[in-house]
Amino acid sequence: MNETALYEFLETEHSEDSFSRSQSGNLIKRDAIKVGILGCGAIANVITDHALKGKLGVDLACFYDRDTKRAESIASKVGGTVALNLKDMLNLVDLVVEAASPQAVIETVPQILKNGKNVIIMSVGALLDLEFKNKLERIAIKNKSRIYTPSGAIVGLDGIKAASVGEITELNLVTRKPPESLGISINEEMVLYEGKASDAVRKFPQNMNVAAALSIACDKEADVKIIADPSVDHNIHDVHVVGDFGEFKTTTRNMSCTTNPKTSVLAAYSAIKLLKSLNDNLKIGT
Ligand SMILES: NC(=O)c1ccc[n+]([C@@H]2O[C@H](COP(=O)([O-])OP(=O)(O)OC[C@H]3O[C@@H](n4cnc5c(N)ncnc54)[C@H](O)[C@@H]3O)[C@@H](O)[C@H]2O)c1
Repeated sequence: MNETALYEFLETEHSEDSFSRSQSGNLIKRDAIKVGILGCGAIANVITDHALKGKLGVDLACFYDRDTKRAESIASKVGGTVALNLKDMLNLVDLVVEAASPQAVIETVPQILKNGKNVIIMSVGALLDLEFKNKLERIAIKNKSRIYTPSGAIVGLDGIKAASVGEITELNLVTRKPPESLGISINEEMVLYEGKASDAVRKFPQNMNVAAALSIACDKEADVKIIADPSVDHNIHDVHVVGDFGEFKTTTRNMSCTTNPKTSVLAAYSAIKLLKSLNDNLKIGT
């Protein structure tokens, strides 16, 4: 059943009382998950624009950014509330989407989980600090909360997760980026980094969410190469996985968000799809 048919079905099968219209006119189930967005930049804007088209399936109830003007601007689009701090946001929501920075994950996610709220983490690079990741998992277990990390700017995480049931012998990521996105100017391609994911994340914290997602998905550190390549105008990720299941290769050529050329549209879309899937009765993909 496609989404439009599903909503028509829900509207006819269930009483109108089950739904309300948001300030922006979208149909939202009265018991829809209330979502707070922490970090009102490029990803938050793509999510909100999607909500304006309807059918996000969750209620974008609250927005918080250390730059309050950004939170106000985005909240006004969907009729959400602006929180002046994390505590205020946690009083209003069931789940927080972190779309801010790795530092914001460190500063806010423990508190989110301690309040029994679920969290979607976009700055997944922060989780490559294993001690921190384990601490978050312990807090989540204690408080019956959940941590979600969408697939972000990469494809193939489903395959890697499945492959990790057996033995993975090779996990390689080659990331090519336009030099200007890394703040450099060169005429020929230059290898900026070659080594393990955890070191790459420390050296390029804003850029290595993909390496982190791959490594965490299969509990094996990816071997990473980062190349500044003047011949590309998009971020390109080549992944190569070998294991007892066989072998696969993926290439992702990412379009950038208009408001932040460093951030891939696919990453924002992956958060949207995860938000929508929270209501799914049928789950596809590992
Ligand atoms: N998982 C992935 O594949 C993937 C892909 C792209 C981006 N990301 C990550 O997602 C995050 C958001 O990306 P974006 O492009 O939307 O960023 P952005 O720079 O466009 O917006 C970030 C917003 O968060 C706010 N912010 C930063 N730190 C904060 C804090 N401690 N408290 C409150 N607000 C804070 C900033 O003021 C800004 O408005 C980044 O960390 C980025 O690295 C992940």
